[in-house]
Amino acid sequence: MIKFSLKDIISHTKKYGFIYPSSDIYNGLSSVYDYGPNGVELKKNLKDLWWKSMVYFNNNIIGLDSSILMNSSVWIASGHVSNFSDIMVDNKDSNKRYRIDALVNFYSLFLLKHGNIENYYYFLNIFNFFLKKKNLKEIYNFLIIESVVCPISKTSNWTEVRDCNLMLKTSLNFFNNKSNIYLRPETAQGIFINFLNILKTSKINLPFGIAQIGKVFRNEIIARQFIFRMKEFEQMEMQFFINPKDESFWFNYWKLVRIKWYSILNIFNNNIKFYNHVNLSHYANYAVDIKYNFPFGFKEVEGIHSRTDFDIKNHQSFSKKKIQYFDSIEKKSYIPYVIETSVGCDRLFLMILCNSLIKEKKKEKERVYLNLPFIIAPVKLAILPLFKKSSLIEKSINIFNYLKYYFKVVYDDSQSIGKRYIKQDLIGTPYCITVDYKTLNNNIITIRDRNTMIQNCLYIDELYFYLNNKFNLKFIFDKLFNILN
Ligand code: GAP
Repeated sequence: MIKFSLKDIISHTKKYGFIYPSSDIYNGLSSVYDYGPNGVELKKNLKDLWWKSMVYFNNNIIGLDSSILMNSSVWIASGHVSNFSDIMVDNKDSNKRYRIDALVNFYSLFLLKHGNIENYYYFLNIFNFFLKKKNLKEIYNFLIIESVVCPISKTSNWTEVRDCNLMLKTSLNFFNNKSNIYLRPETAQGIFINFLNILKTSKINLPFGIAQIGKVFRNEIIARQFIFRMKEFEQMEMQFFINPKDESFWFNYWKLVRIKWYSILNIFNNNIKFYNHVNLSHYANYAVDIKYNFPFGFKEVEGIHSRTDFDIKNHQSFSKKKIQYFDSIEKKSYIPYVIETSVGCDRLFLMILCNSLIKEKKKEKERVYLNLPFIIAPVKLAILPLFKKSSLIEKSINIFNYLKYYFKVVYDDSQSIGKRYIKQDLIGTPYCITVDYKTLNNNIITIRDRNTMIQNCLYIDELYFYLNNKFNLKFIFDKLFNILN
């Protein structure tokens, strides 16, 4: 089984209606993308799966949909105004822009590769010291003294080193552009600032979680690798509020639950791993990434963070409102700790495509298809009349009308049956049925499985139950977790 390069995946997503560059007719907009007819279905299914896994499967997790625009005090209190930035530098000869940590990482690996181990440690230690202090002048001097060169131009002709906040700004005031309003860079803050509202209206006890899916915006300095790093993307975040003394238990609990979840998406051991953070975000006590083996290396798809009481404590202090939980067992009020699980929907989407687009050789024949987990496939069933004859068309449309209430099904009579199968394989449709002249007499259709290409006969009346079993969440979760346990 052969997997594809990122370049192949990008062209597949455009050709088969998954993802288009934004503003395509105007030559695009860097790092912004649109989801086409198949992409929007696949993304919706991914979000639905995550939402059900969180909000439906756990009696103590509830949902929220907070706004993208918030009072700018939120971002001052959360630390994003002062801390949510990347330090960057441009090379004047190549005109390439670098995140300074990425540039230094690249250079230190170069030292290591050339056996310069002593210099490697010296270099990293000094550099991390300056980086922590955000000492831009010293960082610049260090680049010059150490002759760190641009990998493209091979020169040290650097601009000044700059600290760039990643939040995008807008204004709600027609005449005064100075009143900063930010487009949220994470959904989590909407959850923290609604903690009191939810506590009052839901009468829920610790431990409990609040889940949210929504758009976020970051002015990424170097946005590369297709939808891996975007300026507008969607996050699926869950903040789990706990008694501070249970921090370590719940951090480990969510680590295990979340990594197991990926097996539902056919992502198994050798393609996924944990990575413990050394350089923690400004809000975190512990942090671990779940990394997937993308064509460009193991990279983060999800972060699990212990945010302690950092956010609520700051909102309490900035808003001057008491934001606490009364623990009726311990008979005292306190600010809960928070364990956060945060996954980017678009990165998950890319992971799924990288994992699913495969080339297979069976009996000397090569075949390319999208081996999507059935539950998230954009189309569940294609209904294909064998010939474009009115009697077969009418029968097929009747089947479409019978199943459309339950599953995303499509009717297609466009080309030869072989070409229609290939078309469905390439968008990951798990099943195709053909309607032929015999069907008109006996109500039996032929159903073809995408992966095995085996064809079976079924009565039309049996179709609903057949498909329902295949796309039934309980069935899928139970089967999988029985295997894993
Ligand atoms: N609330 C915590 C938080 O936002 P993060 O590690 O910055 O943490 C969480 O982001 C997830 O959001 C990442 O694991 C990744 O999947 C996704 N993500 C972050 N930046 C992204 C970007 N520029 N484009 C696409 N997805 C991104």
